[in-house]
Amino acid sequence: MIAPGVEAETLLRSTLDALSAHIAVLDEVGTIIAVNQAWRTFAHASGYADENHGVGMNYLAVCETAAPLSKEAARTAQALREIMAGVRAEFRMEYPCRSPEGPRWFQVRVTRPDQAPTRRIVIAHEDITEVKRTQQELARLSGRLMHLQDEERRAIARELHDTTAQNLLAITLNTSRLRGQLDHVEEPVHRILEETFDLAEQSLQEVRTLSYLLHPPLLDDVGLVAALSWLARGFSERSGVQVDISIDDGAAPSSQPVATALFRVAQEALSNVHRHSGSKRARLALYQTDDNVRLDIVDAGIGLKAPAHANGEETRLIGIGISGMRLRLEQLGGQLEIKSGPSGTRVSASLPIQSISPDDCPPNERPRLHTNGL
Ligand SMILES: Nc1ncnc2c1ncn2[C@@H]1O[C@H](COP(=O)(O)OP(=O)(O)O)[C@@H](O)[C@H]1O
Ligand SMILES: [Mg+2]
Repeated sequence: MIAPGVEAETLLRSTLDALSAHIAVLDEVGTIIAVNQAWRTFAHASGYADENHGVGMNYLAVCETAAPLSKEAARTAQALREIMAGVRAEFRMEYPCRSPEGPRWFQVRVTRPDQAPTRRIVIAHEDITEVKRTQQELARLSGRLMHLQDEERRAIARELHDTTAQNLLAITLNTSRLRGQLDHVEEPVHRILEETFDLAEQSLQEVRTLSYLLHPPLLDDVGLVAALSWLARGFSERSGVQVDISIDDGAAPSSQPVATALFRVAQEALSNVHRHSGSKRARLALYQTDDNVRLDIVDAGIGLKAPAHANGEETRLIGIGISGMRLRLEQLGGQLEIKSGPSGTRVSASLPIQSISPDDCPPNERPRLHTNGL
């Protein structure tokens, strides 16, 4: 709706120019028929200032030319074709791009406005570098926090194991020596000694279990396969949930961070089976697929509560356990998938066998499909 007396073309032009996104309008075959000020400025700053700033060129052809060198260009070309054919309404993609000020991130959005009398396609490249940087910084910090948490757990576990457990062991030994030397005393004294012995032994067991759960020494010594079997056995005894394990020996990752991440995922997922699913059985499988090592934990329980599982597919879940598992895996280039329904839940973790370092960032030396590619 435009107020009377306002000239439509001037209004549209000034509105387009006022937007921060770099915008090009294409006709129905993909030829650029208009670009806004932000597009022109970026093209100029990037040193690709042909006097028409791309107007008159075919955007689809540009993407197709770049497609063999850039998967982003290939995806955009494909989406443009689908939008032109009317089988798709919108396309969004994030991509890295070099600019005169250094590497930047953009989001391209391709749409076909419904109400236009003639068929037009609008391409908008929005600079999302700040958002990306914040995301990367957050991921880096979270990874660092998790690493510190692991270190701290390891230190506490060592302390418990080497000091507290040793002291408790000494108490049990002393108590049994006392018992031997005090066989002439009254019955109540014996009972107290007996109780002290039992308590010390029970505490020793608890401290050992706690220290193993905090940092399983098995993981360092004999690797993930043994550690997972140990975890599943201990978990079954404590929780009463029967765990069937199927471990493909060849799938055991050699990298310590990958093994630790998978162990922690198994630990959290099993604890969720016990606490939330109601299932009395679970299956734990470790195996290899192509370049990934995969860990599945499956239960036959009630499934995640709605709205966490819209359409049987997992959406975002709030919970320290699940978000922690996801973060751990993403830090190493892997991912977490959760499928859940009324007949149970499957948590799948997958990690590349050759894990990447958390500091690796996407290459910015890529063919460009933004204005400067024109
Ligand atoms: N195996 C499962 N079966 C049913 N519900 C689950 C399962 N795993 C997780 N959930 C649900 O997802 C929520 C989030 O889990 P999580 O992030 O581990 O946090 P927490 O276990 O601390 O509640 C749980 O509170 C529970 O409602
Ligand atoms: Mg949990």
